[in-house]
Amino acid sequence: DAPETLKSRAPVVTIMGHVDHGKTSLLDALRGTDVVAGESGGITQHIGAYQVTTKGGDVITFLDTPGHEAFSEMRARGANVTDIVILVVAADDGLMPQTIEAINHTKAAGVPMIVAINKCDKPEANPQKVRERLLEHEIVVEDMGGEVQDVQVSALKKTGLDELIEKILLQAEVMELTANPDRAAEGNVIEAQLDKGRGAVATVLVRKGTLKVGDTFVIGAESGKVRALINDKGQNVKTAGPSTPVEILGLSGVPMAGDQLTVVENEARAREVAAYRQEQ
Ligand code: GTP
Ligand code: NA
Ligand code: MG
Repeated sequence: DAPETLKSRAPVVTIMGHVDHGKTSLLDALRGTDVVAGESGGITQHIGAYQVTTKGGDVITFLDTPGHEAFSEMRARGANVTDIVILVVAADDGLMPQTIEAINHTKAAGVPMIVAINKCDKPEANPQKVRERLLEHEIVVEDMGGEVQDVQVSALKKTGLDELIEKILLQAEVMELTANPDRAAEGNVIEAQLDKGRGAVATVLVRKGTLKVGDTFVIGAESGKVRALINDKGQNVKTAGPSTPVEILGLSGVPMAGDQLTVVENEARAREVAAYRQEQ
């Protein structure tokens, strides 16, 4: 086989933190959207996957996670498909149980962390106290002589966002993230559900290769042929390359979050791989 040609790819950044510390608001501010307003009770119920193109033309993939106890599994998964974690800590509330849980997931995944101290617009905000409390969990930010980058932000007032983007890009640059786009796609299911009109739908994060309409694939123990690909803006696309989140239609059933997507040469091979995985 010819050696693989690696090309740089967008960093995959997962936003984690305690419930209501402003993860979705921060992502809304970065994207110029208003997802929180559309959420039932302002509570995130699933992992949202979005791409942001920065002013400088760099692309960053973001995964938004829920802050609730019931979603511990999902947060753990988020940490596993990610290059960088943004730990959101509300400066008025400080470190809370799910902040600490997110720290532990991040450490376990061996992923670099950037701390976004949010809600700094509030009069009761105390960012210094957040930095001190982080020390107790061996997170030493630059200000305290350590190496973890931190940034004071307000998702509400949209302050500190450029600095946050800069720090993400700086971290990504150091990591030299690459993938070969010119091969059969591989990826991971971020979330999946049975949709009334569309049948089984999975949101997949492509890790390597390029996924194309018409590709035959296996996801977990399900197989299928890509009938349509829908990007994070709701548009139909023909292809999805490395670090791109995309909805796939054309599945035989609903896979599980975390399941591996593999594109194979033909349907016979897909059935073979699916059967093998069912036995595991
Ligand atoms: P879950 O997904 O439910 O865990 O919450 P979340 O972390 O995504 O928080 P969300 O974005 O839903 O924000 C929670 C509340 O905090 C909302 O009422 C926001 O308007 C508010 N909020 C978020 N960011 C800021 C901020 O920078 N300043 C102030 N004052 N309020 C904020
Ligand atoms: Na919320
Ligand atoms: Mg949220």
